Amino acid sequence: MLWLRLVEGLGKVTIIVSAIVTENLGKTYRSSVWKSTVRSLDGLSLTVGENEVFGFLGRNGAGKTTTIKILCGLIRPTDGMARIHGEPVRKRAARQSIGYLPENPYFYEYLTPRETLDFYGRLHGLSRNERAAEWEKLSDLLDLRDIASQRVRGFSKGMRQRLGFAVALVGNPAVLILDEPMSGLDPLGRRAIRELILKMRDEKKTIFFSSHVLGDVEQVCDRVGILVKGKLMSQGRIAELLTEKIRLVEVIASGIDDGVVQELRAASEAYRASEAGHHFTVTDLASANASIKEIHAAGGTLVDFVPVKESLEDFFVRIQEGHS
Ligand SMILES: Nc1ncnc2c1ncn2[C@@H]1O[C@H](COP(=O)(O)OP(=O)(O)O)[C@@H](O)[C@H]1O
Ligand SMILES: [Mg+2]
Repeated sequence: MLWLRLVEGLGKVTIIVSAIVTENLGKTYRSSVWKSTVRSLDGLSLTVGENEVFGFLGRNGAGKTTTIKILCGLIRPTDGMARIHGEPVRKRAARQSIGYLPENPYFYEYLTPRETLDFYGRLHGLSRNERAAEWEKLSDLLDLRDIASQRVRGFSKGMRQRLGFAVALVGNPAVLILDEPMSGLDPLGRRAIRELILKMRDEKKTIFFSSHVLGDVEQVCDRVGILVKGKLMSQGRIAELLTEKIRLVEVIASGIDDGVVQELRAASEAYRASEAGHHFTVTDLASANASIKEIHAAGGTLVDFVPVKESLEDFFVRIQEGHS
């Protein structure tokens, strides 16, 4: 089975259980009022290894929150299965190893951060001493000391997100599942969350987080999965996704007339002009060769030939466009 990888060495067999595994996960929401159905997730299979930071990317409505709610055992999938450390998500053992930060964390507005964490500590069955120790650790980590005794009611989005993160960490879970942890934050707030994620990775946690913002994912993730309309379009290390799928090549030419420029432009993915000449971006070597031939045939000069690394952003946009 996919979730068990057997590593054999010198007659010893070690079983490695992945932190998060989903197989053919699907969700269809049914509306009893409209008698309609929405297929929000379709055949989602992904694996997140132990101590990995996995970025789950997709536009609004792609199905990220649906996936996360299934992983946290909050809603049931219509088909397929999901496991945390080999345990089906509907089992208590799976849920106990998860720390969850919802998209819009909900708090009791009249409690203070200290009371809030104390409350969640109780839910986790922590003793009074353990709860005090937890407060010491988490208030330090999330910089909550200054606001320890203020009511949550007046908190900014950034403060709420820090408190939500602290709540997710109560009980020291091995797996963190964060739904858009950086959305709605200013650059400093985003950076703080990014740094926290990296810190948690150093503490050997597994982190699964969703985002519709590429930059956030690019900077902290080991691997990403791109979800488009409920389907996983791509999954892998960022560097691999960018180099393997496509190679963009820029062919730069000078000394060609407008007619030839227009012709080459029509056969290119992108075009721009600079002092160096006309830049034609093509997606494969065959097209690059064809362009070069035409440039020479038209009496022009090949000024440069540059392989272009696609950015994650370009890749993301291309994946979305190919399936819209
Ligand atoms: N409770 C629900 N009932 C009906 N449709 C839902 C429900 N929750 C989400 N959806 C639909 O499922 C799709 C995926 O939503 P969601 O998982 O929230 O996406 P994301 O988190 O990527 O923005 C959307 O089309 C959304 O409207
Ligand atoms: Mg969402």
